[in-house]
Amino acid sequence: MSRDFGSLQDRTAVVTGGASGIGAATVEQFLAAGARVVIGDMNAEAGERFVAELSERGHQGKARFQTVDVSQEEQVVELMDIAVAEFGGLDVVFNNAGIGGAIGPITELEVEHWDQTFAVMTRGVFLGIKHGARAMQKAGRGGSIINTASIAALSGKGGPLAYSATKAAVVNITMNAAVELAESNIRVNAVCPGIIFTELMHRGRAAEAEQVIDKIQPSTLRGEPEHIASMVRFLASDDSAFVTGTTQLVDGGYLANGLLGVNPLPGVAKRPNYTGMNHGTTGQGNEIRFLEPKADKSEGQA
Ligand SMILES: NC(=O)c1ccc[n+]([C@@H]2O[C@H](COP(=O)([O-])OP(=O)(O)OC[C@H]3O[C@@H](n4cnc5c(N)ncnc54)[C@H](O)[C@@H]3O)[C@@H](O)[C@H]2O)c1
Repeated sequence: MSRDFGSLQDRTAVVTGGASGIGAATVEQFLAAGARVVIGDMNAEAGERFVAELSERGHQGKARFQTVDVSQEEQVVELMDIAVAEFGGLDVVFNNAGIGGAIGPITELEVEHWDQTFAVMTRGVFLGIKHGARAMQKAGRGGSIINTASIAALSGKGGPLAYSATKAAVVNITMNAAVELAESNIRVNAVCPGIIFTELMHRGRAAEAEQVIDKIQPSTLRGEPEHIASMVRFLASDDSAFVTGTTQLVDGGYLANGLLGVNPLPGVAKRPNYTGMNHGTTGQGNEIRFLEPKADKSEGQA
């Protein structure tokens, strides 16, 4: 029996955070595998530009952009409805939108920034699963849901504190949702990227990050969005038919080496000397303020 490995022919996918980085690379791989894709992102300018580029490269009519804030339930419902109404169903959801979130020492974090971080990366994933699964159940042909977590979910100091906590929640939501949705033939898996060279990771300091990564990441390759997209495409396709409830590491061996090396990510230090909110590449400005340097313990002591 011949099989069309990796094919997503005539499948419909929704990709959140699809205007940039890992999401955009995944959109490209989904299209190349034969899928139709609804790209949902908060950054409308980047999303529209990307769809125009895809059309010029021969994917006309196969990709559609929709402005969405994944933390807003009615907008997520609309996103899934578009896939069903315009592309005739929903087979794959990639819940991938993300930001840097609240950064700084725990004693400085603002509740509002903490809640915004969880709203995007945990509530957003919950809503994507909830409404993606509802649409899939209605059609009755099963499906595959993939959530972006992070190596930061699996250790301390793999990322900013609030960010890491949202990603740890994603790993658990993935397992529980997979168990619940198995009877509907809907698979749910998570992917944990390592250090992937996107704007969100290096914030314009790619060369600096590359130097540090050289010392701590076993693989000599630079982590690129395509490395994650390949895993997501595998999880989306029938090649992974018996894979559900799992968390797949794609990190060039970084976690195997231990995360206690020097973490090159901006916002991650034993105790950062700045705090605020990193809105990632959404087009919203970041809100960051510097903290006073911590007083030397010996200062003022007799
Ligand atoms: N780059 C890395 O090293 C790395 C490592 C581990 C995990 N991740 C995760 O991978 C995912 C993609 O990150 P990336 O590196 O490609 O970043 P990116 O900034 O290139 O892409 C993220 C996209 O998400 C969109 N977005 C943010 N908030 C949104 C919201 N509320 N609603 C809709 N869209 C929103 C942004 O506009 C942007 O287009 C994120 O969840 C991130 O946490 C990245």
